[in-house]
Amino acid sequence: MQIEKLYGKDIDDILDFEEFSEKFENQPSEEFLKEVHKKYQYRSQEEALRTLQVELLKLQEHLEKKNEKMIILIEGRDASGKGGAIRRLTRYMNEKHYRVVALGKPSDTEKTQWYFQRYVQHFPKGGEIVIFDRSWYNRAMVEPVFGFCTEDEYETFMSTVSSFEEDVIAHKIHFLKIYFSVSKEEQANRFHEREENPLKQWKLSEIDLQMQERWDEFTQKKYRMLKETNTKISPWTIIRSDDKFLARYNAIKTILNKVNYEDRDSRINFTVDPEIVTSAEKELE
Ligand code: ADP
Ligand code: AMP
Ligand code: MLT
Repeated sequence: MQIEKLYGKDIDDILDFEEFSEKFENQPSEEFLKEVHKKYQYRSQEEALRTLQVELLKLQEHLEKKNEKMIILIEGRDASGKGGAIRRLTRYMNEKHYRVVALGKPSDTEKTQWYFQRYVQHFPKGGEIVIFDRSWYNRAMVEPVFGFCTEDEYETFMSTVSSFEEDVIAHKIHFLKIYFSVSKEEQANRFHEREENPLKQWKLSEIDLQMQERWDEFTQKKYRMLKETNTKISPWTIIRSDDKFLARYNAIKTILNKVNYEDRDSRINFTVDPEIVTSAEKELE
C-alpha cells in the first residue's frame, strides 16, 4: 500500500485506518494522503515535544533540589501563540513547582502603586518557576499604543526597566524573556479563525480587533523596546511563531538551555533552529 511506503510500518498506530478508508472510500486520493500526512505530522510533533517535556521535568527537579528560582516572561502580539506554547511547556510539569501568571488590567488600587509591584507579588520562591503570560512589558507596547498610560509613564518605564531586571538577576533568579513574533498575515488568519471557531471565540478581545489597524504603531514600539531593553545580562530571545510547532519546540529548547541541570539526554540536539530563533540585534539589522 502506498501509505505504508510513505510512512513505514504501524500505520494503524498513526490513525484509525478504517475510519479513514471509509471516509475516503479506500482511494488513496490526494486529499486522503494529505489528511494522513497531517495526522502523522501531528503525532510525530507531539512525540518530539514529549522528549523535551521529559527534560523540563529534570530542569524542575534541579531547581527544586538547589532551591533556585526562575522567571520565564513571554511577550508578543495578540495571537502570536503565547498561550498555546505555555500549555505545551507546562503540560507535564510538576504543578507544585510552577505557576502561570497572566494579569488583567490593573485595578484602581494597583494603578496607584509602583508599576512593578503587581508583578513582583507573583515572583517565585525557591524551587519554583513562574511563567508570565504578558508582563511588565505591557507598558512598552500595548499600553502606549492604546493610550492606557501617559507618555511620561511610558518614558519612566523605558528608562528604569533594565535596572529593575538587573536587580532581579543580581538576586539570583534565572530570568528569560522571550518575544513571540507573528506576521501580520498570520495574525489576521488567527483572528479570523477565532471569529469562526466557537471554541476560540473567547480569545477574541476588543483589543485584538484593533491590533491589525495599529500594526505599524505597535511595530515601532516593538523596535524601540528591543533596542532599549535588550541588555547583555537580560537579552531578548525572539521566536518566529507563524509555525506553531516550531515555535513551541524551539521555545522549550531555549528554556532548557538556560539552566544547567543534570542528566541531560545526550540523544537530544539542544541547538535551536536559527530560522526560528533570533536575537534583538539581528531583528534590528
Ligand atoms: P490577552 O490578549 O492577553 O488575552 P487583551 O488582548 O484583552 O488580552 O489585552 C492585552 C493586554 O492589554 C493585557 O495584558 C491587558 O491586561 C492589557 N490591557 C487591556 N486593557 C487595559 C487597560 N485599560 N489598561 C491597561 N492595560 C490594559
Ligand atoms: P512581530 O510579531 O511584531 O514581531 O512582527 C513580526 C514581523 O516581522 C512580521 O511582519 C514578519 O514577517 C517580520 N519579519 C522580520 N524579519 C523577519 C524574518 N527574518 N523572518 C520572518 N519574518 C520577519
Ligand atoms: C496567543 O495566541 O498569543 C495567546 O493565546 C494570547 C492571545 O493572543 O490571546
